[in-house]
Amino acid sequence: MNKWVRAHTNIALIKYWGKENEDLIIPKNNSLSLTLDAFYTDTSVTFDDALTEDELILDGDKQDARTLSKVQRVLDEVRTLAGLESKARIESINHVPTAAGLASSASGLAALAGAASQAAGLDLSDQELSKLARIGSGSASRSIFGGFAEWIKGHDHDSSYAVPVDDAQWDIGMLFIIVNDAKKDVSSRDGMKRTVETSPFYDGWLNSLDADLSAMKQAVSYRDIEQVGQIAERNALKMHATTLGASPPFTYWTAESMKAMDAVRELRKLGYTAYFTMDAGPNVKIICRQSDLSALKQELSKTFEDKQLIAAKPGPGLHLLN
Ligand code: ADP
Ligand code: DP6
Ligand code: CO
Repeated sequence: MNKWVRAHTNIALIKYWGKENEDLIIPKNNSLSLTLDAFYTDTSVTFDDALTEDELILDGDKQDARTLSKVQRVLDEVRTLAGLESKARIESINHVPTAAGLASSASGLAALAGAASQAAGLDLSDQELSKLARIGSGSASRSIFGGFAEWIKGHDHDSSYAVPVDDAQWDIGMLFIIVNDAKKDVSSRDGMKRTVETSPFYDGWLNSLDADLSAMKQAVSYRDIEQVGQIAERNALKMHATTLGASPPFTYWTAESMKAMDAVRELRKLGYTAYFTMDAGPNVKIICRQSDLSALKQELSKTFEDKQLIAAKPGPGLHLLN
């Protein structure tokens, strides 16, 4: 019986942007995120001797070799750990737009780590699962956990994994403004690689991270939503600034992203606690009080369509379904 495993997406408040080791996905810096209830992936894996190759069916469609190669890193590690040789069939459903800067690789590869290890009969700790998810996609290391999680960069496979930081059972939420849910032109993987290799701003970004991370951890422990928002917004703006210095330069922002960022500044003028963050895509996420989610949605519906606005609360860690 193959079981289904669910993992939720997470959005980083202190971003991961650049690899120290591309093969193992060891990051340049620690990052800190919030796992959310609104977006998630369900995945099931079957190891079967009758299969001649691994296959990935995502939302009903068989995926190409490039997409398969990311998941094969995880499958190969599971086969090594379990002493298995059979190929695998993966079925996955994204309840999140794929490759649109809404963190599908985080929920997708975390769900895969859970489902593949389960199907292979392995009983892995959360730390082992986090390492396994990480070699599929860095941000996935954090989706093993609910609430706030920190990915400790480490220096090799065994020392690079996420840890839970705070269960987020307090008045914090995130409102998503979806300006475009189509697949992005520059993947997170390619975007961060180009930035590390060519942007003269990259060192400035890296040098400011220790201060941002410790301030963020203190703000989370004090449940200080104003500080959490302020630090996250500044951190995201710095990350996006590095892409403008890359060669060739690029940005994930569109005119609609700018409009959404302006709308967040307007919410602040109205007295709300509202700060934005953005990832490798044009969509904008507002860090706010959970108790303000409906009021903010109402306010933003003057500028955006209802279907563009998705309210999220803190979400759970990786778990088996049924
Ligand atoms: P995102 O912003 O959505 O995380 P990325 O560029 O980081 O965008 O990653 C998108 C890629 O993650 C997809 O092209 C695919 O390779 C992989 N991915 C997304 N969802 C899944 C899934 N459910 N199962 C396996 N791989 C997935
Ligand atoms: C901007 O984890 O998607 O969302 O490790 O190459 O798969 P790979 O990249 P990915 O990068 C996420 C980048 C980010 C910031 C973050 O989530 O920390
Ligand atoms: Co991603």
